[in-house]
Amino acid sequence: MKILFATPECAPYVKTGGLGDVSAALPATLARLGHDVHLLLPAYRGMKVSGEIGDGVELPAYGPWPAAQLVPVKAPNGVTLLLLACPALYQRAGGPYVDAGGNDYGDNALRFGLLSRVAAQLGTVQSPLPGWTADVVHCNDWPCGLAPLYLALARSLPLQQRTAASVMTIHNLAFQGVFPMESADLLGVPHHWRGLDGVEFWGQLSMLKAGLQFADAITAVSPTYAREIQTEAHGVGLDGVLRARSARLRGILNGIDTQAWDPASDALLPHRFGRDGLQGKSLNKKALQVRSGLTAEPRAPLFAVVSRLTEQKGIDLVLAALPRLLAAGAQLVVLGQGQPELQAALRKAAEQNPRQVAVTLGFDEGLAHLIEAGADAFLMPSRFEPCGLNQMYSQAYGTPPIVAPVGGLRDSVTDATKDPANGTGFVMKSADAAGLDDALQRALRTWKEPPLWRKLQLNGMSRNFGWEDSAEEYLSVYEQAIAAM
Ligand code: ADP
Ligand code: GLC
Repeated sequence: MKILFATPECAPYVKTGGLGDVSAALPATLARLGHDVHLLLPAYRGMKVSGEIGDGVELPAYGPWPAAQLVPVKAPNGVTLLLLACPALYQRAGGPYVDAGGNDYGDNALRFGLLSRVAAQLGTVQSPLPGWTADVVHCNDWPCGLAPLYLALARSLPLQQRTAASVMTIHNLAFQGVFPMESADLLGVPHHWRGLDGVEFWGQLSMLKAGLQFADAITAVSPTYAREIQTEAHGVGLDGVLRARSARLRGILNGIDTQAWDPASDALLPHRFGRDGLQGKSLNKKALQVRSGLTAEPRAPLFAVVSRLTEQKGIDLVLAALPRLLAAGAQLVVLGQGQPELQAALRKAAEQNPRQVAVTLGFDEGLAHLIEAGADAFLMPSRFEPCGLNQMYSQAYGTPPIVAPVGGLRDSVTDATKDPANGTGFVMKSADAAGLDDALQRALRTWKEPPLWRKLQLNGMSRNFGWEDSAEEYLSVYEQAIAAM
């Protein structure tokens, strides 16, 4: 199958969260299964890409968009990267979505409108890439949301033979790409699709809604999240649209990159370890404690957080639970960046308890690996979690996760109290302070019984979180989408 995977971020080139990891691992797995996978990604500033660079294709200026270039690069993992080069739109200081000051770029509608437009074109007979037209265009999150609409538009034109099918994947419904309705003219959204049945969201234009309305198939990144987002409580205003399209909506749990995240071969760790012996894990714990300025006490349970510091992730719940953790002699390490008030509160906690709490503000891949390897338990009390990857990394690294009973967390962690034989972590009874408190008490009790704790670790390390099964599920969604066109 010829698959175009369109995404605003892809590790290791550019990553702000889990979408970057998924964009690296899923296309590579599909390529390994024998499919022809092209990955469309904006060429942001400072991005370093290795591989065999092919001839660039010129994309002429069109409507509000300046001329651009499509540069194919054959990556070593079998995927062909298509870098969308348009310096006026993408070569900027700052991240993929926000400027250096953390504010959305004022022209995001155009920046991601172009990504969507080129993605759609690659699925039509007018594909700009000589000799290559996608069978399916797989769109990820709101930045690609207009692509299904553009494909539907191409299909509706009199001379258009056929186009690729479109699949829209929801990684996080909270980010919707909402812009003033005036941008509909610039973006070429036809008048008859600007209403409630089209892109309209409270008087504005929603790029994610466009994707949900026009895609041939919709997926969410876990089965539980696919159900949750059809309810008012978790639908962020789009639950009605999702309910109306529920026959086309499926939840597929993300996998993890089992090469990058394998404690037995992880080059980012000072000490490697596996199921046959956890000595290396103890050494990593010591290295982490020393590096973080914590007391190098092997018996102190070391809890960890690696996360965007936002409301979603329940960081305030971690702060609220901290006094009891400290009273129990536990330690906490946090790596993350995000909301200033959460950063400040964490920093204060570290200043007040330098031997028990360590906080690193920033993005640090190497430290993230050391924390997964060196910590004893991982905290993810998210208010909602479409899938979540760190709870899977944690299980692979013998670091039982303590998670909220939501989304992909629920689908990937087995509660040790409910199912002691197969437990891999602790699932909170509710996604709130009481739920976290109860789960922490259960974890601390288990910690005091080393054989039970070890069982929990080994259960998690025996899980297979590879991408193969999920990639097969995506292939069946692609086939259904093609059949349903
Ligand atoms: P989300 O995409 O909602 O942020 P996920 O759990 O799906 O959550 O993915 C987060 C990814 O980003 C993981 O790979 C995690 O290790 C990584 N990550 C998050 N914050 C940091 C950070 N400050 N430094 C390094 N890696 C981070
Ligand atoms: C989003 C979600 C996260 C998910 C990731 C990859 O960022 O917040 O739960 O794991 O996308 O799908």
